[in-house]
Amino acid sequence: MAASSSNLDTALTNIKSLLDASAGNKNRTIAATICLEVLHNSNYRISLANASLPSGKTKDARAWLSAALAYTYDCSSSLKHANDTNQVREIMSFVDSISTLNSNALGLVFNYDAFGNDTASWKLPNTERDGFWEKPGSVCKGGDSGCLKTIQEAVNKAPDNDGKGKKFVIYIKEGVYEEETVKVPLEKRNVVFLGDGMGKTVITGSANVGQPGVSTYTSATVGEFLIKCSIYFMF
Ligand SMILES: *[C@@H]1O[C@H](CO)[C@@H](O)[C@H](O)[C@H]1NC(C)=O
Ligand SMILES: *[C@@H]1O[C@H](CO)[C@@H](O)[C@H](O)[C@H]1NC(C)=O
Ligand SMILES: *[C@@H]1O[C@H](CO)[C@@H](O)[C@H](O)[C@H]1NC(C)=O
Ligand SMILES: *[C@@H]1O[C@H](CO)[C@@H](O)[C@H](O)[C@H]1NC(C)=O
Repeated sequence: MAASSSNLDTALTNIKSLLDASAGNKNRTIAATICLEVLHNSNYRISLANASLPSGKTKDARAWLSAALAYTYDCSSSLKHANDTNQVREIMSFVDSISTLNSNALGLVFNYDAFGNDTASWKLPNTERDGFWEKPGSVCKGGDSGCLKTIQEAVNKAPDNDGKGKKFVIYIKEGVYEEETVKVPLEKRNVVFLGDGMGKTVITGSANVGQPGVSTYTSATVGEFLIKCSIYFMF
């Protein structure tokens, strides 16, 4: 986490230079602007994970590191649309190396959560593609009254941050959820989304990555009725 945080500071400095040098180049300006925001967020999540561990809040640390990793992916995905100079290529490769650090930190914290100090039992973590998180205790059967139809409905049910650190977890079952806009208002600071794994729970939309100014981070999706089944709970 220390290595990642320090490299994120370096990446932010380099991307600020990229932005300053990119006046008049729309793609690069957009990519650099997105990267400045998401890498700052990544660094903030790492500081939260780092602060959670000494008090035994290992699951919180996992959630924060998972977010930190997603943010570095988002920066790389934005830069792909401006991958036409060596400066951009070097930054991309550096940001990818930070994703690797974040991924390793997440893997270590996962093992600590699962096996504690018994490091002999530690193993290579499953990737998110394999379904990284344990299944939540409750199961949602299609058509149950407990199921919500849209992710947004679940987000709307999340309370505003009460300052007590409770997480509102929204579990989104495996499937391709097309054309939904999901907006998480700033006040709802403790919302966590859990899917069944990268490539399994997929949210897509009409704003395509590939259009100028659109990355995974900014691609908003539209529509309201295709979510088959989500459950939500607090702990
Ligand atoms: C992690 O926490 C320690 C102890 O509070 C602090 O000294 C260190 O700067 C923190 N590191 C990061 C990356 O936040
Ligand atoms: C960036 O561009 C280079 C040269 O065109 C290409 O080889 C590389 O695959 C690109 N990288 C990504 C991640 O798109
Ligand atoms: C690991 O060992 C330390 C020191 O003995 C202890 O404080 C901590 O609770 C242990 N952690 C787990 C998850 O067993
Ligand atoms: C900007 O990005 C779009 C979408 O990726 C691409 O079609 C276009 O060629 C890019 N423009 C420049 C100047 O690189």
